This record gives sequence, C-alpha cells and structure tokens, in this order.
Amino acid sequence: MAKVVILTGAGISAESGIRTFRASDGLWEEHRIMDVATPEGFARDPALVHRFYNARRAAARAAQPNPAHLALAELEADPGHEVLVVTQNVDDLHERAGSQNVIHMHGSLFGALCHACDHRWPAPEAMQPQDTCPGCGRKATRPDIVWFNEMPYQMDRIIRELEAADLFVSIGTSGNVYPAAGFVQDAAMCGVETLELNLDRSAGSEMFDTSRQGPASVLVPQWVRERLGSR
Ligand code: OAD
Repeated sequence: MAKVVILTGAGISAESGIRTFRASDGLWEEHRIMDVATPEGFARDPALVHRFYNARRAAARAAQPNPAHLALAELEADPGHEVLVVTQNVDDLHERAGSQNVIHMHGSLFGALCHACDHRWPAPEAMQPQDTCPGCGRKATRPDIVWFNEMPYQMDRIIRELEAADLFVSIGTSGNVYPAAGFVQDAAMCGVETLELNLDRSAGSEMFDTSRQGPASVLVPQWVRERLGSR
C-alpha cells in the first residue's frame, strides 16, 4: 500500500474556469489581499468581503471538476494507494470529482463561521453583514475561509500524514504561501519522495526530487496512469 499525500492549489481548478491568484489575470491583480483576505479587512468593510466571496462561491458552483480532479479520485479508489488530498482551494471540485479523503486547509466557500462564538453551518448562496449566527444570534457571520494572519486548519494531522507518507505530490500551486509552501521541505527531511506537477516552474521547484511542467488536466491523469500501471 503506497501512502500518498497530495497538496493542491489554484492551478488544479484553473481549467475548470476558476481564476488563480497570482497570474496576470489572477484575483490578486484586481483585489488587495489586505482588503478581502484578512480579518482586519473584514472588520473594516464586511460588505466588500462578502461580495468577494459570494462571487467566488457562485463561480465555484458553476464550475465542473476537470480530468485532474477526476484522476486523483481514481487514484484514491485504487486499493493499492492510500491518498490524502490537502487542498488550499476553497472550491468543492475534489469532492464533486469523488475524492473522499480531503482536507481544506484554507477553509471552504460552502461553510459559514460565526466570529463571535465559532459556530459553523452550511453557507447560504449569498452572505451579508446583517446575517445572524444560528448558534448565538449575533450579527457575526463570516465565510469559513482561512485568511492571512490566521492558522490553516488541521495542521497537526497534515504534518503527521506528511511524515508517514511514501510520496508527496504538489499540484498547481505557486509555492508562495506558507505553511503549504514548506511541505516539500518537511517531506524531504523525513525521506519522503517528492514530485511537483505545475504549469510552470514554481518558487520551490528546485526543492522537489522531480518537477514536471504542463497543464494539470494532462499531467495529473498521465501520472495517475503511471501509478496504476506500476503495480
Ligand atoms: P497561485 O495563483 O499563487 O498559483 C497557481 C499556480 O498554478 C501557479 O504556479 C501556476 O503556474 C499554476 N497553474 C495555473 N494554471 C495551471 C494549470 N492549468 N495546470 C497546472 N498548474 C497551473 O495559487 P495558490 O498557489 O493556490 O490563500 O495560492 C496559494 C494561496 O494564496 C491560496 O490558497 C490563497 C492565496 O492567497 C488565501 O487566500 C489564504
């Protein structure tokens, strides 16, 4: 049984029509991180932040999984592989492709969180500043997204799984945001083999044992076919 931990980023959903962050037409060209992706920005202008995530939720709902998401689900279904997908993405395309073992380390567009009492519930289609928490009744609804200056979810479990893996694969991430950008070093320090699949060379490409460049919809199914043929 091969234990594989797979980190995914915006690049795996790009061919499903979901915009990445750092490309020339990416989300961070149009929006300031400080305004829409920090607790301070939310405190200053919650209506702006809700509009940003409401639009992204609508885009995610309209998108469909692509061959890269589907191939990862196929690998997970194989009895010779134990697969954990750790995604930085807040869309639900891995789940809709059939992956079951998924950690959303940066949260999810489909969750709502009360910043007063930490209660969580499924997000409505659109959130607004006047929405009340079903737990405590306060007007403190925010998207269940991990913002800059906040701690990503399930870090203890991710590091544990990474250290016990046979293979770490990073797909479609630019390697700019920690702690995810450091997973390749954590894995390498434990003797775990590392592979990168990305459109172009990323900030951390040279840290991987192997780095392949190309679109995820081609590279990921190709790599999964290699794995499934290898038994
Ligand atoms: P980025 O936008 O930083 O990087 C996307 C990466 O995907 C780039 O290296 C692209 O070359 C690559 N890419 C684009 N299209 C691709 C394709 N079709 N196939 C394969 N690769 C492709 O997105 P992330 O690395 O995911 O966090 O960004 C990490 C975090 O920064 C996000 O989770 C978000 C953002 O700020 C928060 O908002 C907290």
